Amino acid sequence: MRCTTILLVLVGFQFWLISNGAIVNSLENVDWWQKAVFYQIFPRSFKDSDNDGIGDIPGIIQKLDHFVDAGVDAIWLSPIYKSPMVDGGYDISDYRDIAPEYGTLDDFKKLLEDAHERKLKVVLDFVPNHSSDQHIWFKKSINKEEGYNEYYLWADAKYDSEGNRGPPNNWLSVFQNSGWTWNEQRGQYFFHQFTNKQPDLNLRSKMVQKEMKDIMTFWLNMGVDGFRVDAVPHIYEDEQLRDEPIDPNSGVIDPNNYDYLKHIYTKDQPKTFELVYDWRNFLDNYTAVNGGDTRIFMTEAATNIDKVARYYGTADGSQLGAHFSFNFYLIGLTDYNRPMDIKYTVDAWQSSLPSIYTLNWLTGNHDNHRVASRVSPRNIDGYNMMVMFLPGISITYMGEEFGQEDGEVTCEQGQDPSAVNNCTTFNQTSRDFERTPYQWDDSINAGFNEGAPTWLPVSKKYKYTNLENQREMSRSHYKVYQQLIKIKSLLRSANTLTVYQSDADILQLRRSSEGGDNEYFFLFNMGEDVKTMPIQDVTDEACLVLVSSVDAEYLPGDKIFNEDITLKPGDSFICKLLLV
Ligand code: GLC
Ligand code: MG
Repeated sequence: MRCTTILLVLVGFQFWLISNGAIVNSLENVDWWQKAVFYQIFPRSFKDSDNDGIGDIPGIIQKLDHFVDAGVDAIWLSPIYKSPMVDGGYDISDYRDIAPEYGTLDDFKKLLEDAHERKLKVVLDFVPNHSSDQHIWFKKSINKEEGYNEYYLWADAKYDSEGNRGPPNNWLSVFQNSGWTWNEQRGQYFFHQFTNKQPDLNLRSKMVQKEMKDIMTFWLNMGVDGFRVDAVPHIYEDEQLRDEPIDPNSGVIDPNNYDYLKHIYTKDQPKTFELVYDWRNFLDNYTAVNGGDTRIFMTEAATNIDKVARYYGTADGSQLGAHFSFNFYLIGLTDYNRPMDIKYTVDAWQSSLPSIYTLNWLTGNHDNHRVASRVSPRNIDGYNMMVMFLPGISITYMGEEFGQEDGEVTCEQGQDPSAVNNCTTFNQTSRDFERTPYQWDDSINAGFNEGAPTWLPVSKKYKYTNLENQREMSRSHYKVYQQLIKIKSLLRSANTLTVYQSDADILQLRRSSEGGDNEYFFLFNMGEDVKTMPIQDVTDEACLVLVSSVDAEYLPGDKIFNEDITLKPGDSFICKLLLV
């Protein structure tokens, strides 16, 4: 099962014009992260410097100039800690050390130094919900060693009338089946939201809480710029261990499927919000005491939008949580989506998230099929434009800057624990496809390494789709991406967003400044047909094209004035108002 619930819905067919634009973040005093482009690296697949088939930290160091060239502000790294790598590193066996195949603490310090020299921020993934079962804490907890007894969620078995042993309740793992695993040595069950090699830590324990803050301090002292906190909604569970009810609306009939139950006792518990607010205080305090730029706190919470808003903080801002909590509403985009769906999403966010908080936009990550494989190649630029044009933070998953597609992985080659046990559903459930090595160039293994077998196969598509190739072309997805980041900073002065709907296939967004003299338009034909619309549907003045999709008729520098606008399927551009 994919970790992120796909929340996009297709809504009815309607046309109308929204006239009341919503004001987003005021312009003054915008902190670095509020206008930033974050770039997610999955380290195992980024760059393998020592040709052992596995990406590593020296590899990231070698490629730091790529981020400068692309124009991003911050990189966030999926976990780099010591780990048996059962779940791609989201199973940590030592929170204060680096996985040996990725490098050493010294390598990481060098990464920080070299990144900071280039004015790039470095954000670490942090996994407080669970550790690896190989962590020394778990071993000590099994043995009920003094102090460690309560580090994890242990509970007694339940026996039926015939004396058969069963788990304490019906709670399920996000990765299917019971969330409880029996431990013979301790004679109790332990709970795990994910695989049974990832026992859930008990954050009710003061000692575990202290461990977590100490670990954050350890990395902050080294110089990291903040944390992306993993699996936040799953941190606390009901203390009384009550059974969860069946979800009548899920349509799921398999009782071992995570979606079979309504997760009222294992997700988004009141204490989880308290903890998030406490950690924000802790980070703000760290910055206040130690100086320097804001240390960022971003939460991964695939949950209802009202809950996501609560992870940001209370509505009145009296308690702050994450600087932002990922917006997963567009992570399921496909060619079936239409502007209506984007409008629905933008409206949902603008109505649910108090305006003191900063919006964020993304179309992919390491847990979902790549956007370039979910949509036609012709739409790649349009979606990158949308992510950069919408106000707030934009997030790129590595490879999206040049339209890298999913790789080809067979069930036998699969590594993802959420899928490897079931080859019949592998294509739907495996997250290996979006994790194949980054395609740098057309040399052996796409330039990921020097030819050694790679941990997941390099996609055959690399011969045509790779970064270097696109750097050399005069028009390419990458060139568009670079332009978009430059345009994103211009857009900051135009802080009113309006979503128009004059055509069912054309996404039409506008950003304008208070006086209205600074206006930008984004048009994107998401449909299957060539569309023509009078420029008057966009503006009574003229419009200067700043960036356009690779196959669009319009080129940067074109002035559109007194004419019909023609958009082939997939065509998109951003233009700036020109007063005539
Ligand atoms: C998050 C990560 C995912 C991981 C899970 C368990 O959802 O994004 O990759 O499997 O947490 O740590
Ligand atoms: Mg390596």
